[in-house]
Amino acid sequence: MRILVTGSTGKLGPHVVTALLRRGQIVRALVRDGGRAAAVLPPDVEPVIGTFEDTDVLRDELDAADAVFLLTPHGPTMADTQNGLIDLAAKSGTRVIKVSGTSAGIRPDGPDACRQHYDTERYLAAAGVPWAVLRPNGFMQTLLVAMAATVRERGVIANPLGAAGISLVDCADVGDAAAAVLTDPTLEGRTYVLTGPTAPTYAQIAAAIQAETGTPVTVLDVTPEQWDQVVGVNLRGTFFCCQAALKAMYGQKSGAIVNMSADAAFFPVHGFAVQAAGKGGVALMTRTFGLEAARRGVRVNAVSPGNVIVQHTGASWAERPPLKPEDNAPSPAGSIEELAAQMAPGRFIEAEEVANVFVFFSSDAASGISGQTISVNGGGYYAMQL
Ligand SMILES: NC(=O)c1ccc[n+]([C@@H]2O[C@H](COP(=O)([O-])OP(=O)(O)OC[C@H]3O[C@@H](n4cnc5c(N)ncnc54)[C@H](OP(=O)(O)O)[C@@H]3O)[C@@H](O)[C@H]2O)c1
Repeated sequence: MRILVTGSTGKLGPHVVTALLRRGQIVRALVRDGGRAAAVLPPDVEPVIGTFEDTDVLRDELDAADAVFLLTPHGPTMADTQNGLIDLAAKSGTRVIKVSGTSAGIRPDGPDACRQHYDTERYLAAAGVPWAVLRPNGFMQTLLVAMAATVRERGVIANPLGAAGISLVDCADVGDAAAAVLTDPTLEGRTYVLTGPTAPTYAQIAAAIQAETGTPVTVLDVTPEQWDQVVGVNLRGTFFCCQAALKAMYGQKSGAIVNMSADAAFFPVHGFAVQAAGKGGVALMTRTFGLEAARRGVRVNAVSPGNVIVQHTGASWAERPPLKPEDNAPSPAGSIEELAAQMAPGRFIEAEEVANVFVFFSSDAASGISGQTISVNGGGYYAMQL
């Protein structure tokens, strides 16, 4: 069979390509960058240089293919991109095997990426083309790379799950399953939920890493004292500072308060649940104070920085050893330059750029604004691509 693989150079794609080649298939891999393809794909693959936007290239490839493996990365246009590719495949009559997300989240009210997968799964089922869907749990490679960063840096992993387990799945196993479905038309018309064979706890994962690497690994469970400290600084601290300042400002019938929130409140980041709770509370508190103070001549707003280059950020990332090829993932980055390249503007935000928004909110130029939180993240956040 001749099979087109999209998203071939990411975390999962190379495993799908390898499994198909092992089964003796002709594998055409859509790649944006021939150099990267040569680095991460086996030599027998046939690279097709192009992007999801190159419809002429894709039309020709789909016309000639028996099946397409449909993988596009997370992002606000993921469903639109996939639905467009499904339209092209339907015109060519080419079977579509789509990779979706973690099954429990594939609902109309699921997290954004899962909701988009939900829409596209329905679109695919109605497209009039043979199909199958794979719903893998979280990739082991994604979580382990994130853990490798904190193990290397501080010998710890943060445990967000308590005593619960997580049945991560190895991308190599997903690749095998994908190759089986791509090459066997009798497996069409079904949705396959793919999990790992066990659901280890974070303590068990830490023990396995320690046994494998010889590096002592501590599992960091958040203690009630740590919770009280972080949430206390953010919520009690902000609330009582605002209360004191508002009293003085109401007396003079003017003033501007600018609180400090953070992007962790708006974009989920591994290990940042406590920070998200505190900083999310700051943003909501700001909205309420902004309303209450409005008729007394006082404005209350907040700034939400993204990944800002400060001395601490630079030192901690620069000291990390670079990722090795076997880490097999572009994120989180191995060096501070790679991390910067993954952020929307391709660089860190400077502290001065955050300060500029404080100055703006404090000035008469912001006289019509109260209760708002502005993100200073250059247009987006790399964690959304994970
Ligand atoms: N990560 C997880 O734990 C997990 C779990 C379950 C399901 N999933 C699903 O798996 C998918 C992500 O897979 P992944 O983690 O392997 O992705 P990934 O590592 O982010 O790789 C994305 C791939 O898409 C390519 N690509 C990006 N933009 C493109 C464009 N405009 N034109 C052509 N190619 C483009 C990239 O090419 P370059 O190499 O050139 O950048 C790369 O090959 C998502 O749909 C996600 O929901 C992920």
